[in-house]
Amino acid sequence: MIDLRSVPSDPCELLSDWFVRAEQENDVINHNVMMLATVGNDGRPSVRAVLHKSFDMVTGRLTFFTNYNSRKSREIEAQPHVAIVMYWDRLQRQVRIEGRAERVSESESDAYFRTRPRAHQIGAWASEQSQPVQGPKTLMARAALVTVRFLGKAIERPPHWGGYAVIPHSIEFWQAGEGRIHQRLLYTCSAESESDWTAQWLFP
Ligand SMILES: Cc1cc2nc3c(=O)[nH]c(=O)nc-3n(C[C@H](O)[C@H](O)[C@H](O)COP(=O)(O)O)c2cc1C
Repeated sequence: MIDLRSVPSDPCELLSDWFVRAEQENDVINHNVMMLATVGNDGRPSVRAVLHKSFDMVTGRLTFFTNYNSRKSREIEAQPHVAIVMYWDRLQRQVRIEGRAERVSESESDAYFRTRPRAHQIGAWASEQSQPVQGPKTLMARAALVTVRFLGKAIERPPHWGGYAVIPHSIEFWQAGEGRIHQRLLYTCSAESESDWTAQWLFP
């Protein structure tokens, strides 16, 4: 439960605690999955799972990596407002985040790309994410070509692949409670400052 006596003034502290707890909880597989919603030019939302790869406790920046030509990326480039939900069943916890997404620096993307397993690096070159493809065999064939191309060499990051950072302007914590007395705590930050947070309890 959220400790009512010591609700932090900065939600990033609480979020960091919850991430650590989710990671420690052995039964939480893919503890870093988040559902990311974007909006298209036609106003229609779309949502998909991505993995968050870093969280900056000071700025609240949450990063994920993807193909810059994918549907989500095209939508973010046109309209950067995104919404995220994370849910940890074992912990009976949900976090909702709203904010804007922006590309991370080339050097940050390079640094993360270097840490990826080689098969994942090959996949980043081989997949034209979100584009139609004849079938899975086409992807296998493309991956084989990439493997040959980089034989014996380090695989550099494809220019169409990299990270986004989500800068939150609201973070909401939901914790299940006995007898449906759930806790729901919403933090919003003022338009002027990305670090000036106001906390508000909501009926769950
Ligand atoms: C558990 C899980 C984790 C995923 N992580 C990522 C990720 O980190 N980056 C990514 O681009 N796609 C990831 N995907 C695939 C996306 O859900 C999605 O299919 C893909 O990014 C294309 O989405 P789009 O066409 O809406 O851009 C993941 C899927 C699952 C099920």
